[in-house]
Amino acid sequence: MKRLVATILLALAQVTIAAAQDFPNRPLTMVVPFAAGGPTDTVGRLLAAAMSENLGQQVVVENVDGAGGTLGAARVATAPPDGYTILLWHIGMATTATLYKNLPFDAATSFAPIGLVSEVPMTVIGNGRFPAGTPQQLVELVRARGLDISMAHAGIGSASHLCSTLFQSVLGVKVTTVPYGGTSPAMQDLQGDYVDLMCDQTTTTAIPIDTLAVKGYIITARERLRQIRNVQTFLEAGLEGFEITVWNGLWAPAGTPEAVVGRLNEALLAALQSEMLKRRMAVLATTPIAPERATPAELEALVASEIERWRPIILAGGEFVE
Ligand code: MLT
Repeated sequence: MKRLVATILLALAQVTIAAAQDFPNRPLTMVVPFAAGGPTDTVGRLLAAAMSENLGQQVVVENVDGAGGTLGAARVATAPPDGYTILLWHIGMATTATLYKNLPFDAATSFAPIGLVSEVPMTVIGNGRFPAGTPQQLVELVRARGLDISMAHAGIGSASHLCSTLFQSVLGVKVTTVPYGGTSPAMQDLQGDYVDLMCDQTTTTAIPIDTLAVKGYIITARERLRQIRNVQTFLEAGLEGFEITVWNGLWAPAGTPEAVVGRLNEALLAALQSEMLKRRMAVLATTPIAPERATPAELEALVASEIERWRPIILAGGEFVE
């Protein structure tokens, strides 16, 4: 009996090794858990194009939006662990761990990290008719009008939600928040004057700020950005503590063979060196991760430390999903 079990286990291991050696032999799906046209989708499509070249197979982006990114993440957590379904998500992997009481996945155990992808600051933007010309006027107006001010975000646990929570906490005021399936539909409503404000990643705000399609008020970084030089930093605006860097990461389902994760990491590293990706990201004030940081171990450690960093802020915000 023991010999039979050992033979079966050996045969299974050989099948897994053979599958890993042959990987990939068909197109892959990269799940982006937000609407098309938003910052995660933009990074995802650049990355998918560059990884396809290295892998010799198409990496097809699939937008599975809703619930702050957790629906798309759940889809990948329960996909076969063969490397053909991967997730491009962000800081939400860490924030939703505290915000959601009943997630169908665990940030620490349900995924095999592939590597960090990029980092990007956020900007508070307003619609063209919003009656504040400077960050200082913005702060005064939001403090005076409170709940009469509407602020869009991409669902509880999204980066824009996190940013709006921190913004309200730093200002000591509550505004009315309005959820969407991603910041791309939110941006359309902002430009249509249906909502007043939003805090979104520069991946999709740098160009509309630069072309004056929206008003750019504050950047959540310590240094100004050359792409939107007129936008003040949170320190210049007098908002100590209003600092956020959104990071994007790539994951496969837990249980994906190490050799397959290694091959996906190799394709990620090649993509991060791609001139097309670097040039496009530079225009969007988004920074590809340095190759030495694009490792599974770095991503795993970052998720763990970001869960701890954001937990007290989220608990103080008091907005949870049961
Ligand atoms: C998106 O792609 O829509 C954003 O990353 C959503 C967010 O987290 O704010």
